[in-house]
Amino acid sequence: MSDTQKTATLTIDGQSYELPIHSPTAGPDVLDIRKLYGQAGVFTYDPGFTSTAACDSTITYIDGEKGELLHRGYPIDQLAGKSHYLEVCYLLLYGELPSAAELEDFERTITRHTMIHEQMHNFFRGFRRDAHPMATMVGVVGAMSAFYHDSTDISDPRQREVASHRLIAKMPTIAAMAYKYSIGQPFMYPRNDLDYAANFLHMCFAVPAEEYHVDPILSRAMDRIFTLHADHEQNASTSTVRLASSSGANPFACIAAGIACLWGPAHGGANQACLEMLKEIGSPENIPEYIARAKDKNDPFRLMGFGHRVYKNFDPRATVMKQSADEVLELLGVENNPILATAKELEAAALADPYFAEKKLFPNVDFYSGIILEAMGFPTSMFTPVFALSRTVGWISQWKEQLSDPAHKIGRPRQLYLGETERDYVDIENR
Ligand code: SDX
Repeated sequence: MSDTQKTATLTIDGQSYELPIHSPTAGPDVLDIRKLYGQAGVFTYDPGFTSTAACDSTITYIDGEKGELLHRGYPIDQLAGKSHYLEVCYLLLYGELPSAAELEDFERTITRHTMIHEQMHNFFRGFRRDAHPMATMVGVVGAMSAFYHDSTDISDPRQREVASHRLIAKMPTIAAMAYKYSIGQPFMYPRNDLDYAANFLHMCFAVPAEEYHVDPILSRAMDRIFTLHADHEQNASTSTVRLASSSGANPFACIAAGIACLWGPAHGGANQACLEMLKEIGSPENIPEYIARAKDKNDPFRLMGFGHRVYKNFDPRATVMKQSADEVLELLGVENNPILATAKELEAAALADPYFAEKKLFPNVDFYSGIILEAMGFPTSMFTPVFALSRTVGWISQWKEQLSDPAHKIGRPRQLYLGETERDYVDIENR
């Protein structure tokens, strides 16, 4: 924590309290209220955490006004253009870009952890074939704590590191198995001769009956999608992982909790919801009706893939994703994709509408990702599993950071109680 010289004065009922102010390396100052309840007997109130810093961190920085996203200081557009996912994983986990030798060692380690315990295959067969792959992932990832006992002791840094490697390595295998199970095809084992993204595509789209060649264009696009989703400060699912970890829960249980939270349509489930919305809109002439619905306070409909709690001008990931959508669809010969046309028309119409401008609503990372994923052959049900796979390194990096802080303690928020005050029990014959 940075030294603080500044303080804020809070006056309640004529009594003044000095609250320390901490200054960050980037972003807003924070008001330290840790002693407020003890000193003043009051809580602060911030149900959606719109003005609350829940921790300090050195991993990812977002500037919502500038549309800036930095991972350990490196801008997301540079990482998406010049780096690749496993190098970004190393950066998020260890804080610096790796040397060639460090990267080779890290990639070898991850590659050699991609298989899951053979007995875990049975878990998939307990699900109905039409189970959502996110349901399968929550179950199977949580069950990893029943198999990898040598990496569940969170007090042992080496076990924490092994758990981190196992989760990053096995998540694509689990996601691909969830997909294969849902379409009734046999599982494909990981291949050590393929890179991370190519291996995932191979496990998803290859069949034992014939050779499957991974298109390097798709593999590069897949890797870029992984990078664009890798980490994002204290979003809902990352905060879930941190809160689960604060009780001392094992890493696999914490990541399963993060997957569950990400599934919601307001969060990682938006990529699936967005493509379903674009299909429902159908064609550009229907856009005005949906724009009107999104603005109607009496209509619960929202433009999925639009808006963000932090970004108030544009989501830098959406900018890169939109470029990638154009490239991939052209390379796949589907540049005339009607859904992409509807998406671009919808974006233009919404950005030209004062309602969206005033509320600072514009495409977020989920708006274009589904278009690419569908063009690559994924069903909409696999969009959020891809997001979960990508975000595992962010969850794990934040989990590691929290555990390495000796001052960390169990998260236990309080409340503004508006319920009944004490009253006596009434026997049923007197009610
Ligand atoms: C992700 O936190 C992260 O970093 C998340 C994420 C990550 O990488 O981890 O970036 C990934 O989750 C991206 C967001 C994906 N979700 C969606 O695309 C779902 C649609 N968007 C929203 O539901 C909404 O914009 C949120 C959830 C993203 C943000 O919600 P906020 O910050 O709580 O804003 P809000 O709900 O208070 O809305 C502010 C106003 C409201 O109008 P008023 O009540 O002030 O009149 O804007 C309106 C909302 O009605 N509004 C929308 C809208 N989003 C907000 N109106 C129409 N369409 C929308 N999409």
